[in-house]
Amino acid sequence: MRAAALLSSVVAAASCAVATPRGDAPRSRPRAGAAPSSRPRPPERWPRAGELAGWTLAAPPFRSAGHHAGAVDVEIRLPAELIDAYRRLPPGRRLPDGATAAAIHRAPGGAVDVYVIELGADGWRFLVLAPDATIRRQGRLGDCLRCHAEAPRGGLFGLPSTAGGSETSPP
Ligand code: HEC
Repeated sequence: MRAAALLSSVVAAASCAVATPRGDAPRSRPRAGAAPSSRPRPPERWPRAGELAGWTLAAPPFRSAGHHAGAVDVEIRLPAELIDAYRRLPPGRRLPDGATAAAIHRAPGGAVDVYVIELGADGWRFLVLAPDATIRRQGRLGDCLRCHAEAPRGGLFGLPSTAGGSETSPP
């Protein structure tokens, strides 16, 4: 399947390039001889994937302090109407219910994956997407919550002060 092939080549490239910890290795590799009936359902694409490319970049990409053990650069994007509020959000304040933010991760070998937070009125929802926006995991993911429950801005960390607030790339 094309998406699966793309995903495994991206993951393989990323893990060679940045030597990600073994725990990040792909969980299930499609086996060549597997019977069709045992094949997992084709991965579902995130319904908002089409919007993502049009979201505004919050700051020039920077080295992640929280994801993939700091082995990736992160590009944070939000819908345009939320971007000013996000950039200026002081500790102790939060974005309105329904706000969504995405963290797009890149390693020297290329795109790694995309993390998304949806701050719904009935709770936070997390997603992990493959670079082609198919859903790897979603829900109230405990590993995400472990850190984001401690985040100072209602589930969000916000930009590190060194990342600046301009949309121009660093030299
Ligand atoms: C070890 C702590 C940690 C874990 C676990 C973690 N995050 Fe983060 N997250 C951070 C930090 C720190 C930032 C600030 C940007 C950076 O340094 O990557 C961040 C930023 C984000 C952002 C950008 C919005 C913001 O300002 O908070 C999103 C979206 C996000 N994380 C989603 C996720 C998802 C989805 C998961 C689970 C798959 C996850 N995170 C797991 C620490 C963590």
